[in-house]
Amino acid sequence: MNTAHAPDAVRFDSRLLRGGGQQVQNSATLPLHTDEHVVGVRKVVREMALALKLSLVEQTKLVTAASELARNTIKYGGGGMVLAQTVGGGAALGIRLVFADDGPGIADVALALRDGYTSGGGLGLGLGGAKRLVDEFDIDTRSGEGTAVAILKWKK
Ligand SMILES: Nc1ncnc2c1ncn2[C@@H]1O[C@H](COP(=O)(O)OP(=O)(O)OP(=O)(O)O)[C@@H](O)[C@H]1O
Ligand SMILES: [Mg+2]
Repeated sequence: MNTAHAPDAVRFDSRLLRGGGQQVQNSATLPLHTDEHVVGVRKVVREMALALKLSLVEQTKLVTAASELARNTIKYGGGGMVLAQTVGGGAALGIRLVFADDGPGIADVALALRDGYTSGGGLGLGLGGAKRLVDEFDIDTRSGEGTAVAILKWKK
């Protein structure tokens, strides 16, 4: 990954951060270390969704998914960043978000996605819930290196 655009370099180099194959219209990275950063991510994602004229329901789904993944990046990944992009072209436009950290990684992704599973005293609904709220969902994680979770929501 080209860390020149990242406010804080994520050492974990993920295929998800390198791109999803779509044409990128605009791209921004935001740091994820504090609750304030979560608020900032929610705001930026809402603005991107508004700019794309997503419906209020779709905006809310995307912001909710982003919020859950941002919190996981901070709580379990020890902080990191989010890459936020408007992707596609012509009739098919969407918003792609990649949450990346260089934390411990997720040992068992299937288990982590299961509703009710938590290793940190949460509800265990964040990851699976986020997956259900978006059109595409992908996890790249390696033990001791980090985690990247990519989501994409298309404008319907
Ligand atoms: N970035 C990450 N790095 C390492 N482990 C993670 C990461 N994100 C999620 N996990 C693991 O996946 C589990 C499930 O995540 P999920 O968001 O579903 O639940 P939770 O955060 O524990 O609770 P909730 O989000 O409902 O408050 C976490 O408890 C944690 O073990
Ligand atoms: Mg969570």
